[in-house]
Amino acid sequence: MAPEGEGDRWEFRAEGCACAAFTSAKAHPGKVLLVSKKTEVVEGRGELSDREAQAARQLDGDIWTRREYPKRFSGDFSRIERREWFTSQVAGPLLSGTGVLALGDLVDLRSIGFTREAFLPPGGDGGCLGLFLPDALDVGRSLARSPHRVGPTETISFEFKPKSANMPGEKTLIHPRDGYKRSYSEHKLMQHYKLHKGKVETMSEYEPRDFWGPRDGACGEAEARRSKERALKALFQCPQNNLSVFRNSAKVFPGRCSRETLGKELGFTMDEIVAALAEALLQQQSTLDLIVSLQEKDVYGIQGVHRLYNGLLGKADAFDASGHEEYGEYVERVKDLQGMPRALALEALEDYLTAATFKDCSLIITLARSSRETADLRQRLCDLPNAGTISGVTKGEVLYHMQLIDMDLKHVSKIRTHYEKDKLIASIMEQAKA
Ligand SMILES: Nc1ncnc2c1ncn2[C@@H]1O[C@H](COP(=O)(O)OP(=O)(O)OP(=O)(O)O)[C@@H](O)[C@H]1O
Ligand SMILES: [Mg+2]
Repeated sequence: MAPEGEGDRWEFRAEGCACAAFTSAKAHPGKVLLVSKKTEVVEGRGELSDREAQAARQLDGDIWTRREYPKRFSGDFSRIERREWFTSQVAGPLLSGTGVLALGDLVDLRSIGFTREAFLPPGGDGGCLGLFLPDALDVGRSLARSPHRVGPTETISFEFKPKSANMPGEKTLIHPRDGYKRSYSEHKLMQHYKLHKGKVETMSEYEPRDFWGPRDGACGEAEARRSKERALKALFQCPQNNLSVFRNSAKVFPGRCSRETLGKELGFTMDEIVAALAEALLQQQSTLDLIVSLQEKDVYGIQGVHRLYNGLLGKADAFDASGHEEYGEYVERVKDLQGMPRALALEALEDYLTAATFKDCSLIITLARSSRETADLRQRLCDLPNAGTISGVTKGEVLYHMQLIDMDLKHVSKIRTHYEKDKLIASIMEQAKA
């Protein structure tokens, strides 16, 4: 037998800010290897003293060790270990029965012949562990129970970062000067931020609430379908980092194809693609509702959570509302937060971090045409809760499979970063008003 690692030929697949994905078709068919680009888990490290970073690390540990989990959380986890821990211990049980979550296994990079230096820029020490996940783009292989692929060689995949459908609720702390937060979705506000920062050239018309759909069947199916199609069209119009399209695991959009040539590349009309994806999302509505309910665990909003965070860190001005006396109700709400017992404050932070993680997740939908070649795959997919068939919207039947990825558990120190961003958005909105 060849020694472990021999014969592995690693190829770069894709990357985000935190992780990069690689595949090794021969040695690890149907799998994606996720590697962290950096180990440091505390956010904004450059601006924090060692003492502050240590306090944030301690608080993060306090949050995730309050409950008993089969595998205990450790404050010493690297980014990739945090991700695996959150996926298996927290997200997995929350989404059990949906089949949608890509569960993975930690692996020692040395044992699979993966050398960081060959692929990643120097300096970003991401540790020696990687995470093996089922490849959501290569369902034929990842669903195969034997080394042989089931089904088609022709697949098309759509990776969505649908972002948050959350709107402020009764308990959300919002300073009266920031009333705009009640009229704009978080995604819309981020568009203002990105435009201001020059990160995008135009504002996207995409609206996450259209993608996720009205909760609990609040409207009829025809309207829900229309809103999903509206969201999908807006994503094709302006994909930013919310949509990528792959053909046979190679990225084609944005990039190689334009919106005009994409349909031809994929062998469908764009109307067919939009209709098929909307149908798949409708069939998966109960899973989408569940994800939205997890995003809604952000009940106090960033202004409230930032005060709780500072309170738990023992900062003297955490609940200081001086200068805001004219806003009596706001001052009262801040006092309520100050009076919150430590256990509840920790729980509020846990909920916020869970919500923030689900607000940043990605959904991958892979489509394949139904044919004699895909009969085995069809059977396999029909047994899965996160897959199915689509008929009546394209010529012939289409199979689909949906997978949730990117459970990058936010570190509690991210609250400070989110708060700084929130303040900047407030000033951008103020300027826009003037
Ligand atoms: N299970 C998977 N199947 C297929 N592709 C995957 C899988 N996991 C990750 N990828 C690819 O790797 C990319 C990076 O992974 P991921 O989104 O988890 O990293 P990230 O750094 O947290 O991204 P972001 O900065 O967008 O949050 C994804 O955008 C996706 O294209
Ligand atoms: Mg991520």
